[in-house]
Amino acid sequence: MTLAEFREEIRKLKETKKYPELKSYLLPALWIAEKNFPAITHDVMRVVSEELSVPLVEVEEVARFYAMFHTEKKGKFIIRVCTNLSCMLRGGEEVLSELCRLLNVKPGETTPDGLFTVEEYECMGLCDGAPAVTVNEDRYTNVEVEELPEILKKYGWKG
Ligand code: FES
Repeated sequence: MTLAEFREEIRKLKETKKYPELKSYLLPALWIAEKNFPAITHDVMRVVSEELSVPLVEVEEVARFYAMFHTEKKGKFIIRVCTNLSCMLRGGEEVLSELCRLLNVKPGETTPDGLFTVEEYECMGLCDGAPAVTVNEDRYTNVEVEELPEILKKYGWKG
């Protein structure tokens, strides 16, 4: 997506008149940015700021606050591993550790080929299927360390 296209998407969002104040479109606008750019850069934030009449510094604060937004370049697939209580008790930390070993990254890092970013995550609401992992929008529950290679292969991991 180009910045001009992004600007157009925000305008369409505003035309929905879903919220009474422009500022309320901030999270939906950043979500569009997250899905369509490798990172929410300052140029992207500036478009949001201009279209929503929100100071750039506020856009940046929100973009940096929420873990679901990436202000640094991320991989094509973001793998999130929950290590919160339920998942920790059922092996979430082992899953994270093995995933990092397989991909040779630390939590928060992206593989050199730009395919995967691994993130440690706090509860994704899948506690009844702990330990839980997501890959972009896909959800995996009751994940066992042994299944990780098969999961990764679905997203182009060559091992
Ligand atoms: S504790 Fe892991 S999904 Fe809730």
